[in-house]
Amino acid sequence: MSHYKIAPSILAADYANFETELKRLEETGVEYVHIDVMDGHFVPNISFGADVVAAMRPHSKLVFDCHLMVSNPENHIETFARAGADIMTIHAEATVHIHGALQKIKAAGMKAGVVINPGTPLASIEHVLNLADQVLLMTVNPGFGGQAYIPEMADKIAALAKMRQEKGLDFDIEVDGGIDDKTIRSAKDAGANVFVAGSYLFKSDLQTGVNALRAVLND
Ligand code: DX5
Ligand code: ZN
Repeated sequence: MSHYKIAPSILAADYANFETELKRLEETGVEYVHIDVMDGHFVPNISFGADVVAAMRPHSKLVFDCHLMVSNPENHIETFARAGADIMTIHAEATVHIHGALQKIKAAGMKAGVVINPGTPLASIEHVLNLADQVLLMTVNPGFGGQAYIPEMADKIAALAKMRQEKGLDFDIEVDGGIDDKTIRSAKDAGANVFVAGSYLFKSDLQTGVNALRAVLND
């Protein structure tokens, strides 16, 4: 099995029909569903929370990849574990206790992810990389779907992959924001292996979009 994973973001799905959307996603053969939680504080927008994750859980076997764009995410770890999150990814900028928070996510039985914004240096997460199952590099400024991929992030992805090798670690590198059948190549070549895509997949035929991304990954 390929180590590449596609993570469609339901931020771009039909919010009145999550059950149908999850079934549709599952049929396309993707590995993850990416769930963007926004609190209107860490980012300007508000999306959905743990209760929505819990409501979706019985309807899907996909890996629930929860991206928390919320302040003080350490306050929500137990809630997301109970809701059925498989991966909980939190922003290093959103807590002064990133190390402890990642430990708590693992202790709660989830995979731990750490994420940084485009302007945040890799040095800010260097000393917690050993705790991370996944490192997410934002390729847009978080808060909204449909923004343009920031091409300069390719160097950051490559630097993170190098850091991983030097430290002998094996976390996944995920990218999020502006991923389509063109930009995915830049992120892949730089060393990413988990690809979030929202508007690109949901704005036209889902299966056609997934196939186009997969074609680049298999190339
Ligand atoms: C942005 C979110 C993304 C978003 C990506 O703040 O974290 O996951 O859904 O959307 P696209 O793929 O449209 O850039
Ligand atoms: Zn996201």
